[in-house]
Amino acid sequence: MAIVSIPPRTMSLRFSRTDLAFALCFCFVACTARAQQAQQGVAHGAANWWFSIAVLALGIALVFSLRSARLLAHRVRLDAIVQSAMDAIITVDEQQRIVLFNAAAEQMFRCSKANAVGRPLDVFIPQRFRGAHHKHVEQFARTGSTARRMGLQSTLKALRADGTEFPIEASISHARVGGAKLFTVILRDISERVGAALELEDEREKVRAGERRLDAIVQSAMDAIITVDSGQRVVLFNAAAEKMFGCGAAQAVGGLLDRFIPLRLRAEHHAHVERFARTGETSRRMGVRSVLTALRADGTEFPIEASISQAVVGGQKLLTVILHDITLRTRAQEEVARTNDELRELSLAMIEVREAERTRIARELHDELGQVLTALKMDVELFNARIPAERTDLVDHAAAMNRLLDSTVATTRRIASDLRPLVLDDLGLNAAAEWLLDGLAQRAGITFKLDIGSSCADVGEPQASTLFRVMQESLTNVARHAHASHVVVRLRCEDGDAVLTVADNGVGINPDARAKPGSFGLRGIRERVLLLGGTLNVERNQDGGTTVLARLPMPAATGGEGA
Ligand SMILES: Nc1ncnc2c1ncn2[C@@H]1O[C@H](COP(=O)(O)OP(=O)(O)OP(=O)(O)O)[C@@H](O)[C@H]1O
Ligand SMILES: [Mg+2]
Repeated sequence: MAIVSIPPRTMSLRFSRTDLAFALCFCFVACTARAQQAQQGVAHGAANWWFSIAVLALGIALVFSLRSARLLAHRVRLDAIVQSAMDAIITVDEQQRIVLFNAAAEQMFRCSKANAVGRPLDVFIPQRFRGAHHKHVEQFARTGSTARRMGLQSTLKALRADGTEFPIEASISHARVGGAKLFTVILRDISERVGAALELEDEREKVRAGERRLDAIVQSAMDAIITVDSGQRVVLFNAAAEKMFGCGAAQAVGGLLDRFIPLRLRAEHHAHVERFARTGETSRRMGVRSVLTALRADGTEFPIEASISQAVVGGQKLLTVILHDITLRTRAQEEVARTNDELRELSLAMIEVREAERTRIARELHDELGQVLTALKMDVELFNARIPAERTDLVDHAAAMNRLLDSTVATTRRIASDLRPLVLDDLGLNAAAEWLLDGLAQRAGITFKLDIGSSCADVGEPQASTLFRVMQESLTNVARHAHASHVVVRLRCEDGDAVLTVADNGVGINPDARAKPGSFGLRGIRERVLLLGGTLNVERNQDGGTTVLARLPMPAATGGEGA
């Protein structure tokens, strides 16, 4: 960068080797001519001396003119270089007055050469820096070095003719030319570079602020967040993770994720993470099919819910797992499941007790009360036979008693059947179903088809009662809601299951009706079926009516045959 420009009239007049060679050639020619004359003994002494002197003078003149021409060419070349330089070049004398101001300087300082040359350099230095600049130049002049970079400790500022300041990069050199000391400063406008650096710094600060924000979010998250690299080494371990695993981030970071996974599950976990890393997915819920188990630093295991995501950061694939300790939820779920099981067992016991109670009452009504009523009826018949014919009032009375007894017997039978049709216990499911359908046909005029497989004759308790109750509720619903004209009841016992369908050709069930408030018929039979490990579905059939389908697993001894 250091170029010392030589201003006009101060160039050195030292001779080059070429100049000396020329002078020696002329001396040689002059001396040779003189020696030849001496040999020839020519005595034209004075004339020959003058001739030699003339040749010498001519030679010297020639050397000087060649020298001047070269100097001129050198100056022109130098001037062209200085003027065409991209950087501003300013040369000042010892009083720091400008003696050279190139085209780039004119452009940079928005000041013409004519206005700059002869003025102090200070006009291009902001007021507050002038003292420091003077000191710097004086110090530099005292040192032995010829060139130095300026503003190493801080950014230099220059001042344009219009008063605006701008950052520069500068180097200074000094040289003694024709006895005068000259300082040359080469300047470069670094506004764009400084601006870009400021912008870059601004962007970096924004990124840093973003990172700080992200870190704050990650650290304050309620869920544990762990990030691992492709070798499954922990690179991030937030505060919630520290608390959840009882392990500080300092111990966790850099170590393998394995330490937080029970030994028996590590291989499966590795395979899962590798599979996930190979997919193009960015995130996924982990352990969809099962509850995951994690391992605390103290060796205790606990259930977790986790999701995994992946991202490439700085060319490195990072996997982030977000973990939620579900110990409390799992405990609560287990508690709910246990309570449900208990409720089911209680419910089953209640149903069985109620069924047994109904059977007992029905049988007592049928056997005890029925027999008493029959005996009473026989007694009334006896009295009636013994009443004298003229006592028509007593005859009428006995007939009324007889009618009353008949209706009481019928009512007792009906109540007993409603409680528990004894036909179910005495004659089996087929007969009980027929009894139900006969009643439906009589009461509602609905025709029916009953199709019960022969293998279902041996269905025992409590399955038989449950199937009977499903039939009973379904047929009651047909009579009450379906507006049907025909119903088909089918029972098959196959593949270890009893499958009962009650299909009507009515108006069809509304999907919302199943959960009608205040309606418990379908819920009740579903619950009874569930208690025995079966399923119950109610749906529209292809005739537009409703089909109730109950599937009950049968104990091994009774199931397995096709009908
Ligand atoms: N076969 C059917 N056809 C049309 N709608 C039906 C049929 N069976 C049930 N539903 C509809 O489903 C609803 C619920 O039936 P569910 O047996 O649970 O209660 P319910 O019969 O209304 O009252 P209950 O508690 O006395 O049985 C009925 O109110 C009715 O709207
Ligand atoms: Mg009902």
